[in-house]
Amino acid sequence: MKTIIEPFRIKAVEPLRMTTRDQREQILREARFNPFLIRGRDVLIDLLTDSGASAMSSEQWAGIMRGDESYAGSDSFYRLRDVLKDLTGFDNVLPTHQGRASERILFDLIGGKGKVVPNNAHFDTTRANIEHSGAEAVNLPIAEAANPRSRHPFKGNMDVAALEALIVRTGRERIPVVMMTVTNNTAGGQPVSMENLRAVRAVCDRHRLPLFIDACRFAENAWLIRTREPGYEGRTVKEIAREMFALADGATISAKKDGLVNIGGLLMIREPELFRRACNLLILTEGFVTYGGLAGRDLEAMAQGYTEVVDHDYLAYRCRSLEYLAERLLRAGIQIIEPAGGHAIYIDAAHFAPHIPRALFPGQALVCGLYRAAGIRACEIGSLMAGPGRTPDMELVRLAIPRRVYTQSHFDYVAEACEEVFARRDELRGLRIVEAPEVLRHFTATLEEV
Ligand code: F0G
Repeated sequence: MKTIIEPFRIKAVEPLRMTTRDQREQILREARFNPFLIRGRDVLIDLLTDSGASAMSSEQWAGIMRGDESYAGSDSFYRLRDVLKDLTGFDNVLPTHQGRASERILFDLIGGKGKVVPNNAHFDTTRANIEHSGAEAVNLPIAEAANPRSRHPFKGNMDVAALEALIVRTGRERIPVVMMTVTNNTAGGQPVSMENLRAVRAVCDRHRLPLFIDACRFAENAWLIRTREPGYEGRTVKEIAREMFALADGATISAKKDGLVNIGGLLMIREPELFRRACNLLILTEGFVTYGGLAGRDLEAMAQGYTEVVDHDYLAYRCRSLEYLAERLLRAGIQIIEPAGGHAIYIDAAHFAPHIPRALFPGQALVCGLYRAAGIRACEIGSLMAGPGRTPDMELVRLAIPRRVYTQSHFDYVAEACEEVFARRDELRGLRIVEAPEVLRHFTATLEEV
């Protein structure tokens, strides 16, 4: 059979609330043109993020009941540790409440003034935690990452020559770690190839530097390696994941993505002394080492999530859903970051609404247009999110796809909505900021239409 179906059936349903265009107009105005200020119940299809928005399986819900709530030595922790050991090869696993907690602990230990941390592209919270420690965060994406039309299969890759040059220029003693974000969220959810990971590892070896992976979406990355990188067609996603993690000295992970859970994170560190120090810091601020700020049931759901996420039928359906949406948008003439990545479609808003200057946030205008037309909530990743004084490479709107939540007809609806807004794109209006905080302003800024 050619048709790829959702490889699950639905056991519990959560009704969606329909709204009229007039109601949405009212809601959008009350939210001051900022979708973060819209209530969830007023959203029909929520594509704000893929984080913590997964649907859990019946086995995960069963695990919620089985969760061992022992303060120390919970069975659920040992199950999680065994699952992760099998998947990553790491012996030293710490649970945390979410990805940024892992980042905070890591950079409290190895960051600090004068240090420099390279990455293919830092996610906001990684950058913020590095900068909070006093260190500098540097992005080293390949040139193709800035071109939405380039069909390079691994636009998440790091520029290896630029890494080498940075190390030579900065001096290895000032670089506590090299990071690789897989998949590369900031660059469009684009994957990193095994070849690139190996090349970065070789540079790290030459300069005796540790390599850490921000592995939130490692399963999607492994699937895209399997489908796009020569030599990996016959390998299982689990084998590919193991090969990726074998190249690293540690990993920070938000389990809210490929962990298929609504909350949770992980910190994995190979080096025993650094791991010991991380344990102490975890106890100080998150909780004991066998729960890290989570309930036993959360650990149980996570252990089950990580066994389910490497399933080939699931990943084939997941990545095909994104490709399907990407194909429809491209066919309608809507420029997106090509090819589709692992967790989201990124629309080039500057191309979508060329009549809106960058200073008037074309991405936010499109976000408002999608909500008005169809009750779809998306997220601006452009000048508004970047903040004052920073000009990002692109003005993007991210349609992030929660895992196992929406079906084919929802994707058809989203595609139709995008096509309709595109056909009437002249009606989109730029926005001006009324009020906004200094940092991370996109979460709470209020705006008005010009
Ligand atoms: N690293 C990457 C690559 C991420 O995408 C995220 C979160 C984090 C770290 C932080 O994890 O939220 O659990 O603390 N990304 C979400 C998103 C918020 O919408 O892309 P967290």
